[in-house]
Amino acid sequence: MKIYIRPYELTDLEDLLDLRVRNRFFLEPFEPIHSPSFYKPQGQMDWIAQAMREREADRGYSFGVFENLSEELVGHVALANVVRGAWQNCTIGYWVDRAHNGLGIGTEAVHQAVEFAFVEARLHRVQAAVMPQNGPSLHILQKVGFRLEGRALRYLHINGTWEDHDIYAMTLEDWRDVKP
Ligand SMILES: CC(C)(COP(=O)(O)OP(=O)(O)OC[C@H]1O[C@@H](n2cnc3c(N)ncnc32)[C@H](O)[C@@H]1OP(=O)(O)O)[C@@H](O)C(=O)NCCC(=O)NCCS
Repeated sequence: MKIYIRPYELTDLEDLLDLRVRNRFFLEPFEPIHSPSFYKPQGQMDWIAQAMREREADRGYSFGVFENLSEELVGHVALANVVRGAWQNCTIGYWVDRAHNGLGIGTEAVHQAVEFAFVEARLHRVQAAVMPQNGPSLHILQKVGFRLEGRALRYLHINGTWEDHDIYAMTLEDWRDVKP
């Protein structure tokens, strides 16, 4: 295993800010528009504090992705929009440092986050939404064992445009069938 995931700590601020700034133009086509302050120390400090509050409230679980040997922060994976009751559902999002793409890190990070969702958070369903042209991301979901449920039109406001997304999902039953 090349990487591990863990919740962000306030001491990750410098590394997270550096990673965010270096990947700003790489990630922009896949994300909502961020304000300029997002790329400043206070913006990332606020973001980490918000992630901690979300975890405390069982609303979302964000993780840094770290290389095993170097312990370098190389990406991000998050379970967001946690809803309990009859749904027990969350959505998953992820990205990997551009310089570390193509090494299997995204696949392993999604795999570990899904395991957390079913084993630690005891959720029943994880949903992913991917723009149809995002080949690497679609490939990750298929490799981890997500099922395509259909296309949602004008689903998320990404980089200033309401983009269609393919909805993928995995339930606990699917995961039990595919996990190693
Ligand atoms: C998508 C992303 C997370 C992939 O991270 P990664 O660490 O490079 O992913 P992996 O190396 O684990 O896997 C990528 C797979 O896609 C494959 N791939 C690459 N380009 C591809 C393409 N155009 N079409 C289909 N598959 C492709 C790779 O070969 C690899 O598969 P393999 O391991 O079977 O060879 C990363 O590119 C990223 O951060 N993108 C921007 C943000 C983003 O798109 N997030 C997801 C939003 S839903």
